Amino acid sequence: MEFNVKSGSPAKQRSACVVVGVFEPRRLSPAAESLDKASGGHLSALLRRGDIEGQLGQTLLLHHIPKALAERVLLVGCGKEREVGDKEYQRIITTAVTCLNETGSMEGMSYLTEISVKGRDLHWKVRNTVEATRGALHRTDQLKSKKDDLRRPLRKLTLMVPKRGDLTTGENAVHEGMAIADGVMLAKSLGDLPGNICTPTYLAKQARAMAKKYSPLKVSVIEKAQMEKLGMGALLSVTAGSAEAPKLIVAEYKGGKAKDKPVVLVGKGVTFDTGGISIKPSPTMDEMKYDMCGAASVLGALTACAELQLNINVVGVIPACENMPSSTATKPGDIVTSMSGQTIEVLNTDAEGRLILCDALTYSERFNPDVVIDIATLTGACVIALGHHASAVMGNHHPLVHDLLNAGKTSADRAWEMPLWDEYNEELKSNFADIPNIAGRAGGSITAGCFLSRFTKKYHWAHLDIAGTAWVSGANKGATGRPVPLLTQFLIDRDTGAKKRATKKT
Ligand code: BES
Ligand code: MN
Ligand code: ZN
Repeated sequence: MEFNVKSGSPAKQRSACVVVGVFEPRRLSPAAESLDKASGGHLSALLRRGDIEGQLGQTLLLHHIPKALAERVLLVGCGKEREVGDKEYQRIITTAVTCLNETGSMEGMSYLTEISVKGRDLHWKVRNTVEATRGALHRTDQLKSKKDDLRRPLRKLTLMVPKRGDLTTGENAVHEGMAIADGVMLAKSLGDLPGNICTPTYLAKQARAMAKKYSPLKVSVIEKAQMEKLGMGALLSVTAGSAEAPKLIVAEYKGGKAKDKPVVLVGKGVTFDTGGISIKPSPTMDEMKYDMCGAASVLGALTACAELQLNINVVGVIPACENMPSSTATKPGDIVTSMSGQTIEVLNTDAEGRLILCDALTYSERFNPDVVIDIATLTGACVIALGHHASAVMGNHHPLVHDLLNAGKTSADRAWEMPLWDEYNEELKSNFADIPNIAGRAGGSITAGCFLSRFTKKYHWAHLDIAGTAWVSGANKGATGRPVPLLTQFLIDRDTGAKKRATKKT
């Protein structure tokens, strides 16, 4: 999919389809108005006849508009003009693009960038159009023997900007949108792959392939024998029941100066979580193939970072393994020693994410990190607390949490903070080891965060629980690619050079 940026009046565009908005009730957007004038009132006549009301999600495809050079004009309902927020805008774009894709326009020119979105500027609208378009065209047919191919799919979309002075803004925004979409698509396709294909070995291969493609990226993989030498008893206890080899993937992106301390992103990579001996119930257990979405989001964010050539240093650390029951599996009550030296009583083998993360977090100390952020589908409790709209964020350093919350707002990939208070921390008590791997059911996401906080004392750290946001269940089951937009925005914001480049007047 290709995107262009252009300015000019709608009647003069030679295109398979010009896309313009209509607001409720029956009100033309400026571009639609301009087409209406050129065509001698063609559009307003249609509106008077009641062919389209302007409600969000409506479309009307027109052919042969008098005096317009385009073959078609697509009217897209945008709802009430003053009520367009992030979600509404994404819905408008998705509707428009789906319609173009299905009606034989292989190319189109969109004036939907002129619609006001509450609190958002042109850069945001263009970037989001690219992200939403790529999202709408994404197919989950990687493993179907017959692809649901269209005969004339949409290949190119030109995004219209108000004036020539806006072209640079538009082009920068397209560039960012493409990079984020690349990262999101990678995270989605990895997430959707089943556990028998997307194994720890597969993830390691994927990371190595990325390093081949992007020269500032170096990947190394720590094998089981080295994990043993490093004393990663917690990570090893999770993989103990599995025949698949565990991998600790380390991906170093060097875009900054050698002395710049890196951002370390640690992603949970449980390629299938059966629960282990504390086995999960069967219904919807297939969705535990998504338990590596934290890992996928790290690879996605690194992809976006490399595409944008950000001048910062980032390290991705991905503990990857399966959580399986077997005669060699870890049993409830087993006590293991983590790389940090702290002993852990594994009261529930289904609380495995924190066990692989704690060793990866200790390992991360060696990078002398500026900040460490872990990303994990960590707790079912997070879905109960926040549903599917926000990822949970918690951490030991307020400015870091704040930056992540802001990056979520900017990228429309929102997060919400949960507290790591001492009262919660005190609930982690074991009679036999330094720490148990679970507390009571209440506040399960927070006590999981508290567990991790015992391993992150040496640096500034935040934890993102993406259990409710990484995929959707039901008829549209599929990975979302979240929180790649949030993470990428966070990285963009840390590249102060990128900020300067973006705000430079043209
Ligand atoms: N991967 C799951 C968390 C999960 C469950 C995410 C459902 C999304 C949907 C995690 O490994 C897990 O099993 N957590 C347990 C922890 C409990 C045993 C303390 C959970 O949430 O039930
Ligand atoms: Mn589990
Ligand atoms: Zn899990």
